[in-house]
Amino acid sequence: MPSKLIAALGLACLSWPIALTAETGYDAWLRYAPLEGAALAQARQSIPAVVALLDDSPVGHSAQAEIVRGIRGMLGRTMRAEGSLPTENAIVVGTLEEIRRAAPGWRLEIPVGAASLPANSYRLRTVTANGRVYTVVAAPDARGLLYGSFALLRKIALGQALAGVDESQSPYASIRWVNQWDNLDGSIERGYGGRSIFWEGGKAREDLTRVADYGRLLASLGIDGCSINNVNANPKVLSPDFLPQIARIAEALRPWGVRVVLAVDFGSPKSIGGLDTFDPLEERVAAWWKSAADAIYSAIPDLGGFVLKADSEGRVGPSTYGRTHADAANVVARALAPHGGLLLYRGFVYDHHMDWRNLKNDRARAAYDNFHDLDGKFDDNVVIQIKNGPIDFQVREPASPLFGALEKTNQAIELQVTQEYMGQAHHLVFLPAMWKETLDFDMHAGNSTSPTPVKALVAGRVFHRTVGGFVGVVNAGLDENWMGNHMSQANLYGFGRLAWDPDLSAARIADEWTRLTFGSDPTVDKTIDQMQLTSWRTYENYTGPLGLQTLTDITGNHYGVNVEASERNGWGQWHRADDKGVGMDRTAATGTGYIGQYRPAVARVFESMAACPDDLLLFLHHVPYTHVLHDGKTVIQYIYDSHYEGAEAVEGYVRAWQRLKPLVDERRYREVLDQLEYQAGQAEVWRDAVTNWFARASGIADAKGRVGHYAGRFEAERLALERYAVRDVTLAEDASGGQAVACAAATCTATLRYQGPSGWYTLRVEYFDQNDGVSHYRLWVGKQLIDEWAADRKLPTRRLDSTSSTRRQISGVALRPGDEIRVEGVPGGAEQAALDYIEIVPER
Ligand code: GCU
Repeated sequence: MPSKLIAALGLACLSWPIALTAETGYDAWLRYAPLEGAALAQARQSIPAVVALLDDSPVGHSAQAEIVRGIRGMLGRTMRAEGSLPTENAIVVGTLEEIRRAAPGWRLEIPVGAASLPANSYRLRTVTANGRVYTVVAAPDARGLLYGSFALLRKIALGQALAGVDESQSPYASIRWVNQWDNLDGSIERGYGGRSIFWEGGKAREDLTRVADYGRLLASLGIDGCSINNVNANPKVLSPDFLPQIARIAEALRPWGVRVVLAVDFGSPKSIGGLDTFDPLEERVAAWWKSAADAIYSAIPDLGGFVLKADSEGRVGPSTYGRTHADAANVVARALAPHGGLLLYRGFVYDHHMDWRNLKNDRARAAYDNFHDLDGKFDDNVVIQIKNGPIDFQVREPASPLFGALEKTNQAIELQVTQEYMGQAHHLVFLPAMWKETLDFDMHAGNSTSPTPVKALVAGRVFHRTVGGFVGVVNAGLDENWMGNHMSQANLYGFGRLAWDPDLSAARIADEWTRLTFGSDPTVDKTIDQMQLTSWRTYENYTGPLGLQTLTDITGNHYGVNVEASERNGWGQWHRADDKGVGMDRTAATGTGYIGQYRPAVARVFESMAACPDDLLLFLHHVPYTHVLHDGKTVIQYIYDSHYEGAEAVEGYVRAWQRLKPLVDERRYREVLDQLEYQAGQAEVWRDAVTNWFARASGIADAKGRVGHYAGRFEAERLALERYAVRDVTLAEDASGGQAVACAAATCTATLRYQGPSGWYTLRVEYFDQNDGVSHYRLWVGKQLIDEWAADRKLPTRRLDSTSSTRRQISGVALRPGDEIRVEGVPGGAEQAALDYIEIVPER
């Protein structure tokens, strides 16, 4: 064997098992994968043999253990964990106070003027003393030690040099919390990554290992609070006999510096407290809240506080007694105050029975209308938790005007990490890119001319509030990869990084995440970063461009296409598309007046159709389909084009991912590919359903002739059918041609005789994958079995609709004129192996 080849094989053998072992995604960005090449050499040089912990808290011990774990993973070396300053080179972890005591001569050089660092900050610094080199992780408190240790490990994992390290970081805001919408029975509202890690059968799970591991993921991002039950809260969480359940969870999170937060129900004094009222102004009610808070704090002294959803979507609230949100918030907050607890009172309050016929009604106005006049009436430990936009986590919304309207009230922004309206666990959508636009948006609040971006307002920096910050609705679950899909982990990572430092760019966050999660191969990083960074626009393009909001089934699963679901009901997510035009007129001049809730400098831009950004046009204005956008296109043509662009972009992601096959571990490669291929098919379902709907509504054809004309597509209802029966699909645009075929027999077939030219083709079979059974399909060309598959995805529908419509794509099929293409369907359970069409696409 030639020596070059031997060398190459040798290298391959060495690097193969290291780089490409199967990965489950469980460790997310904390994989601590073995370093290679220059990064390994550099780290081996600078990492000493000892990590000394001067702190004796459980959180400090987590920090030290994490350093040992990380170094073992990345360098293959197990550091000695010691408890005092060693007389050799070491990583030293200790609070400022402890370091001062152990090494009074060290100068850590805290920023000028600061007596100490702010809470939860950290300082990483190389100190040389007595000829020894110490890499110091110093902090004012134990959480800071943990955050500094994670930061140190992140640097090593990213291949950054530790020698001479010198940096301080402080969190941008005091509140960096996540919410989980977990029900006590173990289900999760809007959770797409499996069942609850906290609860099962009405109690805390026996095995809380996953909770501790979740705490570790959160701590690695600097998140220090986690609400553990649904905001649509079960009052039971405050009953005295339930406290031990919560205490167990608190114990699992505590070593990671993560405090438990509880979602509470405002009717609790009555529903579980034995009172005949929950009127916030009643003494007895105040006393009840106080005793409930005292009891819980005696079991969990470090509880972060409560989150409260009141008078919203059927939850009871102060309106029952004609009281205000301030009355409601303060009565609970006063019970928490002696214990240092916060009340996060949700700003998501609106009437879901609004009269849709009244063109002046507007759900987007609700948060401002409900809270603006109460500014200054809330106690200091109340924080209004405000969703990023005025509706509900849609694919694009302007920043909520309430951010600019509270000057004497604490606020926090609520961002949704779980992808409720954003493709759930099935679509790749990198949300930090979207959040950044909101966080950086200048609300022109305050009186000075300096910018007042949302991030500064929510952190309390503009109006000098003592608390404020960031809350992410995560809904991670028991799935091995936590979120139901590998790529979605980037959203949790990005949320945490932005909560720590909202000045970070989306590109930097994406790149960090990719390198930590998939390694530092430049081709891998470039490809994944590019996919992540374009994915929001891509998703918006096929689900709701120009500020239309996500055109999904808003009264149902929030997943599939349903352009009209938002109309003619009281939920208020209206876009008012009809045969003449589209968009909500929210202007002050002729519309709902919503735009008038912004400060004048913002309102001026939004009010004027000429100045309003195209991306928000239909959120703020009603226009004819022929209205010309800034880029010269009509609205209707933009709707058509963006849908085709979006669907094409996802096809591009599939191709780009396929090029990474040799560079990504086998399991994650396969799982991400499966997700992207599914998404590509689903993007076409969206494209076709939305464009056909608008073509029908507007009566204006696609100038490029694509909508309604699908070359190479053969409708199942027109094929030669054996035992398959034709069915009308109720939203006509959910199936090509408005019809499908379904099989009520043991097996059915649909056959097509191919009459085109000879060549290589990709075959696409569009079928329906409902969640009430598993059908099987076989595809034959002549006598040859080309492919077989099961319809076993977990999609949220039992119906034949755009949610169940799924594509199977088989490439590299040789066809000749006269070939018989046959699909055989075998129903399973209640699912009837339904088919929509077969498409034959020539390969280039
Ligand atoms: C959305 C979501 C609900 C949730 C609500 C909330 O409307 O669909 O499931 O309860 O937001 O934020 O309270």
